[in-house]
Amino acid sequence: MKRIYENPQKTSQGRLNPRSYYIPEGKSEYMLLNGEWNFAYFGRDFDVPEKIEKWDKIPVPSCWQTEGYDKVNYTNINFPYPCDPPYAPIDNPCGVYEREFDINNLWGKIYFVLEGVSSCAFVYINDNEVGFTQGSHLQAEFDITPYVKQGKNTIRVKVLKWCCGSYLEDQDFFRMNGIFRDCYILQRPEDHVTDVTVVSEKGTVKVNAGKTADISLFDAEGKVLGTTNASQAEFKVENPILWNAEKPYLYTVKIERDGEIITQKTGFCTIEISDKYELLINGVSVKLHGVNHHDTDPDNGWCQTNEQLRADLELMKKLNINCIRTSHYPPTPYFLELCDEMGFYVVLETDIETHGFLRRFANVSYNYDSESTDWPGTNPERKNEHVERMQRAVLRDRNHVSIFMWSTGNESGHGPNHLAMIEWVRSLKDGRLVHCEDASRKGIEGRTDVFSWMYPSMEWLEKKANDENCKQPIFLCEYSHAMGNGPGDVCDYAELFYKYPNLIGGCVWEWADHVVMKDGVQCYGGDFEGELTNDENFCCDGMVFSNRQLKAGSLEVKAAYQPMYTELENGTLKITNRYDFTNYCDCEFKYVISADHKTVCEKTVTLNLAAHETTELKLDIPELSCEYGAFVTCYLYKDGEEVAHTQHELEAKLVKNEIKNTPADYEEDELNIYLKGENFSYTFSKIYGNFTSMIKNGAEQLDGLVELTAWRAPTDNDKLVRTLWGNYNIWQGENFDTQFNRVYDCEIKEGVITVNGSLAGVSRQPYCKYILTVKVNCDGVVSFDLDADIRENVIWLPRLGFEFKFRKEYSDFTYFGMGPHECYTDMRRSALYGLWESNSEKEYVNYVRPQEYGNHYGVRMLNIGEFKFIGNNVFESRVSDYDSWAVSKAKHTNEIVANGSTNVRIDYKVSGIGSGSCGPLTAPKYRLDEKKISFK
Ligand code: GAL
Ligand code: MG
Repeated sequence: MKRIYENPQKTSQGRLNPRSYYIPEGKSEYMLLNGEWNFAYFGRDFDVPEKIEKWDKIPVPSCWQTEGYDKVNYTNINFPYPCDPPYAPIDNPCGVYEREFDINNLWGKIYFVLEGVSSCAFVYINDNEVGFTQGSHLQAEFDITPYVKQGKNTIRVKVLKWCCGSYLEDQDFFRMNGIFRDCYILQRPEDHVTDVTVVSEKGTVKVNAGKTADISLFDAEGKVLGTTNASQAEFKVENPILWNAEKPYLYTVKIERDGEIITQKTGFCTIEISDKYELLINGVSVKLHGVNHHDTDPDNGWCQTNEQLRADLELMKKLNINCIRTSHYPPTPYFLELCDEMGFYVVLETDIETHGFLRRFANVSYNYDSESTDWPGTNPERKNEHVERMQRAVLRDRNHVSIFMWSTGNESGHGPNHLAMIEWVRSLKDGRLVHCEDASRKGIEGRTDVFSWMYPSMEWLEKKANDENCKQPIFLCEYSHAMGNGPGDVCDYAELFYKYPNLIGGCVWEWADHVVMKDGVQCYGGDFEGELTNDENFCCDGMVFSNRQLKAGSLEVKAAYQPMYTELENGTLKITNRYDFTNYCDCEFKYVISADHKTVCEKTVTLNLAAHETTELKLDIPELSCEYGAFVTCYLYKDGEEVAHTQHELEAKLVKNEIKNTPADYEEDELNIYLKGENFSYTFSKIYGNFTSMIKNGAEQLDGLVELTAWRAPTDNDKLVRTLWGNYNIWQGENFDTQFNRVYDCEIKEGVITVNGSLAGVSRQPYCKYILTVKVNCDGVVSFDLDADIRENVIWLPRLGFEFKFRKEYSDFTYFGMGPHECYTDMRRSALYGLWESNSEKEYVNYVRPQEYGNHYGVRMLNIGEFKFIGNNVFESRVSDYDSWAVSKAKHTNEIVANGSTNVRIDYKVSGIGSGSCGPLTAPKYRLDEKKISFK
């Protein structure tokens, strides 16, 4: 027995044809039905009684799961039910919504609009069945005129958890349900305008209202540019101001008929592909600095308020993002209005993903079951449904100037039904591009306008860029998986985009972490009861945290996308304006020359530098001398905010502190060496080969043994190596996390301690053999001199260096190095060299699943307690309340146990970050893969 919502041929009943989005004004009435509704939840739809006796209250919009109904479940590819289309599970939960609304004066046609409901809904007015809809993120409109009366009316919306459409909505997210976007009532004149199209090209704004109306065009200042009374209008605009993401200039079309006013914004923006396969926006080659945006909120699931959406876009602007892919469904219409107004190039994707149809049997390559007619992309019974989902997106949104490309969906393979969607979009001839990553993956170029790919390695991408057979612009619909501490490779990608004209850019995966809060803790897949299948914290992969706080990765994306590039050669700065449409005369450029963080000179200049142009600036560099380093730091400001910075090291005379050569007095016994001087006394363990106590100026500095270690808590990006047998942590092979330090020999001769030792993981041969030479001079200055040999066939090391447990009271520290936020060798474009102050608590970064954090690259001095660490060369450093083992073990922030010390790492090197949780692992040049290491 098929149920009505299990028929892919009948995905709606009584739903009106899609039309352009607007809220009519003037005489027309708009009644938002957001707010409190009666609600009753049933575990099975057939349990819903004729008369519901007991109602709860639920806010609309909202998701059941964040309001305490149904179950929270995060799953990526796997369907949360059997893959047996078109059937939904027999026990299909149902939520019934009901409320009253008043029509004080019934004079026109009445409509009910749902902007988003998951997964399907039946609408009733005053006990009459009005219709049915599916397609969660697509608008549904019903004519309810025949059912409403003047005065009080009752509306009921019955929402089911699943329907046959759910097979097309297998996006990687928390599976949520309910009326999760605005819904409202409209009252409109009897014979109103319905669909409006506005096309602005070649200096003409063409409007089709479908019915005779007063149609006018205004510029952004509100000046009337033309007005006419017709069903179609053409307005010639003298010297039109073009729209682009940097300067989003909008015109307004006003359509008035029978007292009803409809407004639509429009803009002039041409989209072309050059003969070098560049993306030309108004004739200018543009790089897409994009991000994938899902609607997600830690408290409200799929519901983001208008204010939150605006805040997201404002934050994106601050991070130099100019492109958004609406992954993997159309956003609420308001989002697109903002994109028009604020300036973003939008890839508008419709609500389709059938990832769960992927074959995942042994020995079968990544492919969809496209031969089987069960596969939605082939099944002729599902063709209309596919095309309809494309139409509902395009016809709602096509007047938005910000949309430059339509996307048929995500991870669904490529079959006849996708082709039908593409053909339909093409038939519109609206000047926009068409995107379907699966078509590119299948090698069917030409059906779409860009060659789209996900998560390629740098080498693959560069090869593709040079591939003469690829006759399309190359677009990365997803790249630089920003999960946890990361992404570590976004700057390298961005530079590659600049190197090749046909690399038009891409969208970082993804904007924000998806979490659901439980008792104040950010939770993810596996944290909830009854999850039959889950993908753990793979949903926590945002470039900003779920509460939109920034992390180092956010700033790294900002730096990768920044509109300034500089080079320094012989005292001359070469400055390139990487904006596409903005002259630097709209900005302020400043450079600061500093030595040891002290400003030596500072200059602000206004540069008349056109977009894409380069200029040279001769710097006045005085004689410089310093202890740690001298730099020139360049800043670009726009509208009072810093949009970019770069930094170059300058030549300077290095002043070094003299260190006395006289060794300290010592005594020794079987176990220890005791070194003493006027203001210090240290104990060095001959068994463990390092210090166990260091008293300086009367105060014990240490909480225990100083250790040579290689372990760091894996980041999400370190975590995955995919093999036939599954995913495992890259370090697991050597068991670095189980550290055994074996001291073979330790002796002191003429004041010099020599330790001969090795490091090994459990069950493995030593991965490192070392000689550590330690000298303590009469002032208490200690020099460590490490010579390490790394076993040939060992995987690269997480890091290598000394871990000091300082006493808790020493938690403040100062360092000269890259900061102020954490940075790694492949994630440090946003960081600056300087003399920074911090403390162990401030260093903590609240990654959803605890992992390595808080490193500083390029450190030349670190001062903590009574000690100052100085490297013979630069080193890396981290100061934290937790040791790596505690961080490795915890699954949530609240589970990490502090060891009561301040943990200080003084490292030779720390391996980079990469984006290996879904993209490439840390690139070889950023790995600590040396076999002979000397660190002093
Ligand atoms: C992609 C997919 C995204 C997301 C990402 C991993 O393959 O398109 O929706 O799942 O992987 O975070
Ligand atoms: Mg997927």
